[in-house]
Formats: sequence, structure tokens, C-alpha cells
Amino acid sequence: MTFETKIISGEKAAKQAGDIIRNGGLVAIPTETVYGLAANALSPAAVASIFTVKGRPQDNPLIVHISQIDEWAPLVSHLPDIAIKLGNHFWPGPLTIILEKSDVVPLETTGGLSSVAVRIPQHAVARNIISAAGVPVAAPSANLSGKPSPTTAGHCYHDLGGKIPLVVDGGACQVGIESTVLSLLNENVPTVLRPGAITAEQIEDVTGLKVQVASFAEGERVLSPGQKYRHYSPKAPLIAVKGDLDDLRAALVNAPIGSVSLVFAEDVDKVDTPCIAYGKDGDAQSLAHGLFYALREADRLAPTAIYIRMPDRDILGIEGVINRIERAVSSDTNNVK
Ligand code: TXA
Ligand code: MG
Repeated sequence: MTFETKIISGEKAAKQAGDIIRNGGLVAIPTETVYGLAANALSPAAVASIFTVKGRPQDNPLIVHISQIDEWAPLVSHLPDIAIKLGNHFWPGPLTIILEKSDVVPLETTGGLSSVAVRIPQHAVARNIISAAGVPVAAPSANLSGKPSPTTAGHCYHDLGGKIPLVVDGGACQVGIESTVLSLLNENVPTVLRPGAITAEQIEDVTGLKVQVASFAEGERVLSPGQKYRHYSPKAPLIAVKGDLDDLRAALVNAPIGSVSLVFAEDVDKVDTPCIAYGKDGDAQSLAHGLFYALREADRLAPTAIYIRMPDRDILGIEGVINRIERAVSSDTNNVK
């Protein structure tokens, strides 16, 4: 189906978006992390169209978004105390919690899994849309599968224009990378499946439990199906360079003509070849905020290759940014230097 995609904002947007979702359609909506491609999470047909429009593998489960914590219990078979504690503490916010699903949630939504991922987004427009829809809302990131997640309404239009009726513009996403995904399937061993703005340490502080962080090394059992797919990739090959500015400069000496680099804001004047700042040195929040935006800006220049300076691993809260860069680099060569 083709659409003349509209971009709207303001008071009436939530009602219009809610109506479309309730009637089985798709809408790109803002959240504080990244924009989501929203549909009725309880409708197998609506959910199926998310997979078609994104070109997403069917076994990659969707996150179900709710607007109030009391909408959670009907979606899960059991709501342990530790889950309620985490929800009360971090919601609305960038934390997704996985529990065993109830029969209400179709297997289409969970990619065939018996568990369901749920979160309450912080962005007020997102919550208004969910409550206007009156149903739980499934929403993966609103990009074509494999592309960098969208952090503006324009990014959604770029990827999905003509394929969906509506994009709701809620401004640039504050966080910039997707939520932390936490499995509570074993409630004594909370496990981070995807790092995000809420860190394992913060979860430990609230629960008093040791938090596991799933390793995404190749060949390991995949706990979160989304982690096994190539992701976030710009069109041009992406090469990540570890170390200091001199290491980046050395890599750029051998870069193909027409390449562009993504650097820290402090370095923009210190690199001779074309470069774009993606955030401040040592500042995880600022690097997360700018990462996907900068990857898409770089792609617009149609470069031969994109070099990105990797942040130091010891920066507080940087795991999510490093995870996205590592998964975005081209897999064909050894592209983390
Ligand atoms: O911040 C976010 O989480 C954004 C916004 C729109 O809320 N959404 C998002 O959705 O990033 P998506 O579909 O791009 O990523 C969902 C991730 C995938 O890695 C998926 O495999 C994992 O969550 N996931 C969802 N349900 C799961 C489940 N039942 N078990 C394990 N992993 C699950
Ligand atoms: Mg995604």
C-alpha cells in the first residue's frame, strides 16, 4: 500500500495518531530514545504490517509500549515485586523489561517467544498517543531494518515516506539511542540484553541484585534476537578507530579519497579531512544523543567510507554507545582498529 505521508505535531496529533493505531494502521511516533513505528500490539495483522514496512526479520520481537504502569499486569503471566520496583523507579524512561507473556499478547508481537518486552516511554507525546490509542502499542525503531535508528521526524520520513500515513513530529530525541533491554525471566538474575542510557549499576542500586550483562560475542546463544542482526549501518563502510586523536589521524592517512570522519566536538578543527562532530569527548549522554544523527548526516555526503572515533570504554554510561558502534561497523573486514 502507498500513502501520501503527512508530518504533523501539536495538540491534535495524538488523537489522529491514536485513531490510526486503534484502527490497525501504522504511525511513526517520537519517544525520548529514538522514533518508533507504532501499531496495535494486540492485533496480529497490525503487527505483521510493521515487519513488512520495515523489512524486519519475523523472529525479531517488538517492544510493547504502555502509558501507565497498571497496563502492564494484563500483558504478563506474573509481575514479580522486583519488576514493579524497577518500573516504579525508572518509568517513564528508557528501560525495557522482559517477563513471561500472558495469552493476551500475540506471538506475532513477540517473534514467537513466550516472553514480552514492555516499557513506558518518557516523551509526553508518546504517552499521549498510547493513551489516545487505548491499546498497548508495539513499536520498533522507525527505520528500515539495518539502518541507523531515527532521531528526528525527518529521518522517519526519509526511511518510511510513502509507506505509512503519518509521522508525528516531537522534536529531536533527547537520549538518541534505544532503551536498555533487561530480562527478568530469571528474577534473581536480572540480565541486560541491550545496553542503553540506564546502566547495569543503576539497576543494581535499585534491586540490590548483581546484574548480568549478556555478551554479544559471535557464536554465543542469542538471548535477544535483535542482537544477532546487522544494525544501524550507514550506506558507506564504517570503520571504528580506537585510541587517541593521533590514532585517528594515522588511520585517516590511509583512508580512501572521499571519506568522512565522525569525531568528538573538541577535535573538529584538528582533523584535516572532512569531519562531523557527534558529541563531546568523555560525555556519554552527548555522544549517544548525536551518534545516529551524525551517521545519517555522514551518509548524506555519499562518502566512500566513514571513520568514527571510538569513545574510551571507561567513560561512565558509555556501554550503549560502544555497543551501537561495534554493531554498525562493516562486518566484511576487520573494521574496529
Ligand atoms: O528505545 C527503544 O527501545 C525503541 C523505542 C521506539 O521505544 N524501540 C526499539 O525497538 O529499539 P527495536 O524493535 O528496534 O528493538 C527491540 C529490541 C530488539 O533487540 C529485540 O530483539 C529485543 O528488544 N526484544 C524485544 N522483545 C524481546 C523478548 N521477548 N526477548 C528478548 N529480546 C526482546
Ligand atoms: Mg531497532
